[in-house]
Amino acid sequence: MTTLRAPSPVADAPQVDEPGAPVQAEEVVKTFGPVAALRGVSLTIAPGEWVTITGPSGSGKSTLLNLIGSLDKPDSGTIRVAGRPVPEPHEATEFRRHVVAFVFQDNLLLPYLSAQSNIETALIAAGVSRQQRRERSLELLEEVGLAHRGGHLPSQLSGGEKQGVALARALANRPRLLLADEPTGALDSESSKRALDLLRTMRARHGMTVIVVSHDNAVAERADRVVRIVDGEVVSGQRESDSRAHSRDAPDRVHGTQPAYRDPDQGRAAEPPRGQVG
Ligand SMILES: Nc1ncnc2c1ncn2[C@@H]1O[C@H](COP(=O)(O)OP(=O)(O)OP(=O)(O)O)[C@@H](O)[C@H]1O
Ligand SMILES: [Mg+2]
Repeated sequence: MTTLRAPSPVADAPQVDEPGAPVQAEEVVKTFGPVAALRGVSLTIAPGEWVTITGPSGSGKSTLLNLIGSLDKPDSGTIRVAGRPVPEPHEATEFRRHVVAFVFQDNLLLPYLSAQSNIETALIAAGVSRQQRRERSLELLEEVGLAHRGGHLPSQLSGGEKQGVALARALANRPRLLLADEPTGALDSESSKRALDLLRTMRARHGMTVIVVSHDNAVAERADRVVRIVDGEVVSGQRESDSRAHSRDAPDRVHGTQPAYRDPDQGRAAEPPRGQVG
């Protein structure tokens, strides 16, 4: 730290990543035609917490994850991330760019782009310059231990390496919430363990909140908390506060700990979150 010149509070402010975003779902209902996928799910997740969601096939796990990440919208109930209601899918560009990121089982890497270019795609969307994209993607490749694979196409990577690249890409814009749906589902147990170790390291380094949907016991073992969903309802792992989701305390406490997410284009961060007024 220099003492030779008067510090400018803006220019010299440390570039600390924003902490993990809190998540709060209240009485979330989602149906697909006759199928009640979620039947009133209330769930509070603390900033920086790692929650694994387990449960039988068809119980509503992916549905819940998709609603939290604004890939779909609930029929009723509310979900807040970082103290603000999750925007509707068609209004979620900034939310997906700056707040939330996904990792899926099948990693969704673009097959014709190298590992490094795949990471850069996330940065293009965020308007990062070419030079900075190169630097940041290389830095991320190093962080996930794949600097030596930057030039490889996805078809030239192992399953575990592909998930490492997918994780690096997900972290490129420093999300405050990482959502992963069966991220180890296509990996053998050794690769799965390495991927989870990596996720743990990255969470410790970046501080984001992590929600992982998984059947894998190894994933559950690493979580701060395991939430179990059966037939569209949370049957275990809820916090006490979730069972009194309508009390005024829980939402205010969660909202009070974190600023709203940044929306640089529209300056929404300064506004009170929608749905909290009146
Ligand atoms: N887009 C959709 N259209 C119709 N039904 C759907 C749709 N998405 C999910 N469902 C139904 O909603 C229920 C919950 O699905 P969901 O994908 O959330 O389950 P899951 O717990 O993630 O299961 P799995 O462990 O097999 O991935 C299932 O009965 C499923 O068939
Ligand atoms: Mg699923």
